[in-house]
Amino acid sequence: MGNKGGTLRLPEGAVEESLLNVETRQRTRWITINRPDKLNALNSAVLEALETVLTAAASDGDVAVVVISGAGGKAFVAGADIAAMQGFSAAEGREFARRGQRVFELLERSPKPVIAAINGFALGGGLELALACHLRVASELARFGQPEVKLGLIPGFGGTQRLPRLIGRGRALQLLLTGEMVDAATALSWGLVDRVIAGSDLPEAVQKLADTMTALSPTAIRHCLEAVNSGAECPLEVGLELEAALFGVSFATGDMKEGVAAFLEKRTPVFPGS
Ligand code: COA
Repeated sequence: MGNKGGTLRLPEGAVEESLLNVETRQRTRWITINRPDKLNALNSAVLEALETVLTAAASDGDVAVVVISGAGGKAFVAGADIAAMQGFSAAEGREFARRGQRVFELLERSPKPVIAAINGFALGGGLELALACHLRVASELARFGQPEVKLGLIPGFGGTQRLPRLIGRGRALQLLLTGEMVDAATALSWGLVDRVIAGSDLPEAVQKLADTMTALSPTAIRHCLEAVNSGAECPLEVGLELEAALFGVSFATGDMKEGVAAFLEKRTPVFPGS
């Protein structure tokens, strides 16, 4: 896989570099959580670093797509950091949950597509992280679960809300109430992931998917995300109104003019992105 873009422009010292690897490949910002010795468990420092790099990616004109993955061969993210949570008071627990939820909302509300490249265990907060992404591509070796009940906890980063919305109440409750893991084939059949990739081909497959979206109209992609995100929780007629408004706005964009002209002229469009 090439690394054309390369450089990342972030305010110096903005991110504790060791916690996240951040690089840009072909206008895709790869954010890799880098605590492999703790199976990339999420603590406050990782959440803070994620918030910084996600905010930077959203406003960086050189970035079209964001990918989240985990370092090491074993885990995407094995959950919130259990050791860090051990001494929490009720108020601290709530604040930790709200913080994680806020960071994950940055993913869900991102104006650019976010892909979870699930390279191994996606458990607890790791599965919740993947749920907040727009697309989920998994290695065939990945395993998925919400094991919080085994710790006397419940998910706190959106799992009780996003999981039933994505895979239905019955299957969500199966994961939430048993704490058991499912394999990649089951996750695919449940719609918990969109694609499963064999062997070591996950990064290439994810980059290919990202490149497909990078070649498309950024404004149309942004409008699709906005319509789906905002429409999901509205009554149908409100969602349809929003869709019609965004459809109308498309006609005022350079992207639409270029896309339609290129089709009629039988050439590849070069979208201005506005
Ligand atoms: N928080 C903190 N540390 C974690 C962690 C988590 N969620 N998940 C794994 N780790 C740590 C382990 O404590 C261990 O650290 P150590 O080497 O200092 O003892 C290291 O990561 C490796 O994990 P280990 O349990 O030895 O690997 P394994 O292959 O035997 O088991 C798992 C893998 C994923 C099944 C197991 O680590 C696990 O069950 N993790 C917790 C999952 C969970 O409950 N997540 C929800 C949290 S709310």
